[in-house]
Amino acid sequence: MKVLGIETSCDECAAAVVEDGSKILSNVVATQIPFHAPYSGVVPEIASRKHTEWIYGVVKEALEKAALEPKDIEAVAATNRPGLLGSLLVGLSFAKAFAWSRDIPFIAVDHMLAHLYAAQLSGELSAHNEPLAYPYLGLLVSGGHSIICRADAYDDITVLGATIDDAAGEAFDKVAKHYSFGYPGGAVIDRMARDGDSGAFRFPMPSLHKGKHRYDVSYSGLKNAAINQLDLFRIKKGGVDKNEDIAASFQKTAVEILLRALFNACEDTGISTVVAGGGVAANSYLRSRLAQRQDIRCVFPPLELCSDNGAMIAGIAWHYLVRGDRSPLGITASARVEGFKKVTRK
Ligand code: KG4
Ligand code: ZN
Repeated sequence: MKVLGIETSCDECAAAVVEDGSKILSNVVATQIPFHAPYSGVVPEIASRKHTEWIYGVVKEALEKAALEPKDIEAVAATNRPGLLGSLLVGLSFAKAFAWSRDIPFIAVDHMLAHLYAAQLSGELSAHNEPLAYPYLGLLVSGGHSIICRADAYDDITVLGATIDDAAGEAFDKVAKHYSFGYPGGAVIDRMARDGDSGAFRFPMPSLHKGKHRYDVSYSGLKNAAINQLDLFRIKKGGVDKNEDIAASFQKTAVEILLRALFNACEDTGISTVVAGGGVAANSYLRSRLAQRQDIRCVFPPLELCSDNGAMIAGIAWHYLVRGDRSPLGITASARVEGFKKVTRK
């Protein structure tokens, strides 16, 4: 079954065609980065206007790249939660109109479940040729979320830990903005860190490793330390600002915060397969640190499927479609997802 997937939850205007949940026939991502870069962050009003301008062209290109016509598409899926409301509504409305005009099924998709599904699309997994067995632990790290969960099925996750304040990606973005490193922050810091000394500066780790917060993370302390102690961290060595050292030291601490909570969850649950997803899963230090753990099988999506894309939307939607699910055409968008609640530990 050929499914068209549409994703407009933030600043990527994306559409893809995926066959039977895993074979990517096309994957088009039009990034709005140049339009948001002057503001060092996503401007919601600009994002929704750009989606409105671009969505038709992006979907058309996705069909052309797959060598298909609208009549060949058997179902349509779109992200309807969580994300920027105005942005979500553009892709959602376009997808509903497409489905209605062609009289084909429509599925509304949860963006975070789709990020977790991305590793199951053609890529690293198929290269290893080993199907993913449930349960596994999910590490969902994006600009808006930092979630450690147990996945029992593609649509059945239990949140074990989450951020108690800022998301990991948000911390990368804010620190990069404050130091004028560039935009978007995560990719810039990752690149700069390669030439830096990660031991040059000491950033604080939150003390959340005990009791009910054993799987939680926190980034506001790290972010504020990095931002408020600019003079302390941005010292001149030989007349040169050691920005690369700041980037490397910050990145190391940000990743170690995630890993401490993740390794606690691996140890306590006895689950040794970790599937990562979301923009921060592209981070090279995170990838290399997890690769060092011989006892943990860590599956990452290919880099182009870590950040927002339509393929993960079409891919997960296929599973809902084959079991007969349909979303009503009256369904709306939600900025937040109530379902991502943490299990309370005693
Ligand atoms: O999943 P995503 O594309 O959009 C959301 O759903 O939020 O994630 C975007 C986030 C941004 O905060 C961005 O700075 C971060 O992912 N990011 C990275 C890297 N590439 C993107 N963070 C760390 N290292 C990277 N290489
Ligand atoms: Zn995302």
